[in-house]
Amino acid sequence: MKSGGFITVEGIEGAGKSTAIARIRQWLKGKGHDVVVTREPGGTPLGEEIRSLLLAHRQGGMAPETEALLMFAARAEHLRTLIEPALATGQWVVCDRFSDASSAYQGAGRQLGMDQIKVLAQWTHPGLEPDLTLWLDVPVELGLRRANGRSRPDRFESEKAVFFEAVRQGYAQLTAEAPQRIRRIDASADLATVTAGIEAVLERHFND
Ligand code: TMP
Repeated sequence: MKSGGFITVEGIEGAGKSTAIARIRQWLKGKGHDVVVTREPGGTPLGEEIRSLLLAHRQGGMAPETEALLMFAARAEHLRTLIEPALATGQWVVCDRFSDASSAYQGAGRQLGMDQIKVLAQWTHPGLEPDLTLWLDVPVELGLRRANGRSRPDRFESEKAVFFEAVRQGYAQLTAEAPQRIRRIDASADLATVTAGIEAVLERHFND
C-alpha cells in the first residue's frame, strides 16, 4: 500500500542538516508529494520531553545504555504516532536523524557496539528502514567550528573531537555496509555544491 517514502538525514554537528532538509522538502513538494518534516530525538510531545532529558547537562552524566534506550523510547513513540501513520497514508517523511544516529553516536561514539544498537533497531522497527539516507560528511574540526557560536552547547555538543571522530567513523562503516541506502555527501563544500549533490542523489534514487 505504501506509496510515500522515508528519507533520513545524518551527520555530526555542523554538517548542515537543516539546510539540506529544507532543500529535500522543496524537491519533494516540487514533485507534488505531501511531506512531513520531523526530527529525532523528538518529533512528538513525549519525544520532545525525552529529548530535553537527553540534551540537558546533568551532574554525573548519563549511562550510555540509558542514553541509547531513551533514544529508542523517543523513536518508538515517533514511529507509532507519526512516522508509520504518515507512511501508511502515502506521505513522505523527512527525518532529521534516525536509528543510524544511534549506531553512530551510542554504538560507535559511546562504544556500546553498533551490532548491539542494531538489535534495538530491529526490535523497535522490524522491516522498516529509510528508503534513502543522506550522510552529510564533514571533517570534525570543520563541523565543530560551524556548530560553535550557536546557542549554549548541549550535552552532546560539549563532547570532545575524539568522540565525534568515532561517530564519523561509525557513519563511514554504516555507509560501507549499506551503500545502496546511505549516500555520502561531501558537506565540506560550498552551499551550492552541496545542494547540487543532494539534488543529484534524489534524482538518481527516486527517478529511475
Ligand atoms: P540534533 O543536534 O541533530 O538535533 O540531535 C541532537 C543530538 O542527539 C545530537 O548531538 C545527536 C544526538 N543523537 C544521538 O546521540 N543518538 C540518536 O539516536 C539521535 C537521534 C541523536
